Amino acid sequence: MQYGHFDAQAREFIITRPDTPAPWANYLGSPAYGAIISNNAGGYSFVKSGAAGRLIRYRFNEQDRPGRYIYLRDDESGDYWSASWQPVGKPIEQYKSVCRHGTGYTVLEADYKDVRSEASYYVPHGADHEVWRLKVTNNGKTARKISVFGFVELTCESFYEQDQVNLQYTQFITRTYFKDKFILQTINENCLNAVNESRVDTRFFGLAGAQVTSYCGDRAAFLGGYRDYGNPVSIEKGKLDGTLNYNLNPCGALHTAITLAPGESASMVFLLGQKREAQAKELVARYEDAALPDREIDELKKYWHGKLLNLKIQTPDDNFNHMINTWNAYQCFITFIWSRAASLVYCGQRNGYGYRDTVQDIQGIIHLDPEMALEKIKFMISAQVNHGGALPLVKYNHNPGHEDKPEDASYRTSTGHPSYRADDALWLFPTVWKYVAETGNTALLDETIPYADSGSDTLYNHLKKAIDFSLNNLGIHGLPAGLHADWNDCLRLGAKGVSVFVALQLYYGFEIMIRFARHKKDSATEKQMTDLKTKFAAIIEERCWDTDRFVRGITENDQVVGKPGDPEASLWLNPQSWAVISGLAEPQRGKAIMDLVHKELNTKYGARLMAPSYRRHAFDGALALLFNPSTKENGGIFLQTQGWLILAEALLGRGDRAFEYYLESCPAAQNPIAETRLVEPYVYSQFTESVESPFEGRSHVHWLTGTASTVMVGCVEGILGLRPDIDGLRLCPAVPSSWKSFTMEKTFRGKKLRITVQNTGGGQKLTVNGTAAQDGYIPASLLKAENDILLEM
Ligand code: GLC
Repeated sequence: MQYGHFDAQAREFIITRPDTPAPWANYLGSPAYGAIISNNAGGYSFVKSGAAGRLIRYRFNEQDRPGRYIYLRDDESGDYWSASWQPVGKPIEQYKSVCRHGTGYTVLEADYKDVRSEASYYVPHGADHEVWRLKVTNNGKTARKISVFGFVELTCESFYEQDQVNLQYTQFITRTYFKDKFILQTINENCLNAVNESRVDTRFFGLAGAQVTSYCGDRAAFLGGYRDYGNPVSIEKGKLDGTLNYNLNPCGALHTAITLAPGESASMVFLLGQKREAQAKELVARYEDAALPDREIDELKKYWHGKLLNLKIQTPDDNFNHMINTWNAYQCFITFIWSRAASLVYCGQRNGYGYRDTVQDIQGIIHLDPEMALEKIKFMISAQVNHGGALPLVKYNHNPGHEDKPEDASYRTSTGHPSYRADDALWLFPTVWKYVAETGNTALLDETIPYADSGSDTLYNHLKKAIDFSLNNLGIHGLPAGLHADWNDCLRLGAKGVSVFVALQLYYGFEIMIRFARHKKDSATEKQMTDLKTKFAAIIEERCWDTDRFVRGITENDQVVGKPGDPEASLWLNPQSWAVISGLAEPQRGKAIMDLVHKELNTKYGARLMAPSYRRHAFDGALALLFNPSTKENGGIFLQTQGWLILAEALLGRGDRAFEYYLESCPAAQNPIAETRLVEPYVYSQFTESVESPFEGRSHVHWLTGTASTVMVGCVEGILGLRPDIDGLRLCPAVPSSWKSFTMEKTFRGKKLRITVQNTGGGQKLTVNGTAAQDGYIPASLLKAENDILLEM
């Protein structure tokens, strides 16, 4: 069944049935003030950290409750409902609702018994408070007396875990007050008068644009005994009883009673934030200006749409267009900005950026906002240790030049990361390359950036150190050790066992260094990297190739992982796709291994990470065994890898195959099977259960996943064939043969490119502003402010 559809013009996903198979969420604000909201207004907010700055209580892994609830009540009949379908949950035959998730805002529209409501939720750009703007309209023929109630369940204290667990303490530090137009919550209030005011938190929940008829600041009084959010006693009665919280659980609840003539509308705003009393008062006053929310929502749209417009495609496949133009792109920004901080699955406990995750996330936005990417690239480089390894977790308060590292017990205890991972620093190669190629900013290579622990160096030398780290951590057969993990968190190959994926990443790193060295006319490095490349190609050939595939690793006891005939895990996806991406496998062999992947690993929802799943034959160190078969790293469809698969097929020029994989795991294409997929049809998730699961096709861990960026790269660089390099742009689309033509508008180094591709099979011909260009290549020097480009292929 289909629960919604895309609106390309508005860049919204529109949910027309509220009983979605899972809460379908959106992200508002930024980690400075973050808000996650589902299509039923479930979700939570936090200041700076999901773990340490939690404002709204949310019960994970339950029924998407509570959230930002607005209740409406007909004061003549006593009938009540909510502006979101849940929590009251009127029969959907009588309650018509639409949820519009957009870029930085969510609108919930409802029509029930001639009353229309429209609740717009957003965090103003750059602000640290949130707004729920409600419009109510009487569409009936008689006047209506309507009560509107805003309700939020506040945490007793900002530390999420404490709030949930340490009840003997947290329930006795909170109070609420009523202050004319808002409920004020104070936490550790007595400390306001003490030396250290920093222990005090104050929050407010306010109402602007309407009078407060009644209020309540105590959850128990609001809900009533043995009641739920769906039937609070105070809503039933039509009045809040004025109880304020002194110990136990606070809430913010404000009521306004209005009368609407036929056709009449009213508009009001509920506000929430962590503010002192005076600031709260000032904010509530500011929102008495009824036009402010529309201006602020417009500003959010301009901000996001401005970024998204830097690549606009029009292809014969609408699902592809929706994802590349808006939703995959928006998700890339969200993962770039929020990392793995907080979602309806991640509780916010990760206190930093995973090195590999963030360095990969950066790749997803380079084509849209290279400046934004640059800042993060420098930040991540400053988290490289001066021996070349990278901090597995970069703390939010990262202090370059002064950090402790995995060698130090303090780092291990504060982050929970016991040692280095083999792949972290190697992700810099594709990321830095993509940035330099997109912008032509080669000066970056000479920029001095600190190391995490001590000293500093040019970015170019940082990259050399990343290579050194791998060369200084070789295991058996002279191949890179797998250390604590490589990209796959579930592979412990140790200091002697080796990772073939890392060997291929390293090989790719040599290639990128050759390109940079050539550009810098550094012939010594160019030669050194070329020699290393040749040397490693030979070792990989000798040790990592078996019969018809690249193996996945070799344990310290010389046991080969992923060889033909193994009863389990005999074929792994990543070594095949990365053999192509790294350039190690020449086209003929590349095609053969990718054909093997198609035959042995592909399913209708994408290709599996490996197969068959581990059950009885896992080596010591194959942690995937912990998962059920066909789940996550144990033979599931780990969606991040689909991006590499798509890219590899596109690099081989096989557009039909690349697009076949694309569609298999494309969220938009799975919209008609939303009940199988469960998670949002507009964003990627971490993995999909595969063939051995009774729930094949079910997907998990929405929004914050590396899938967003790898698939974006697979599509932009792979399928669409936008492949910049230092001097210009190569156009090499690998599209389905059924696509006869498509267009792309791209911003490239501040210039506008209007590209038309005609796929008529008549050979390669490229025209730039009416002049023939050579070999599918557009030198940057030829470009004007605006350019018309035609590629015939
Ligand atoms: C998760 C982790 C990521 C890892 C991947 C594969 O997505 O966030 O760091 O590479 O799993 O194990």
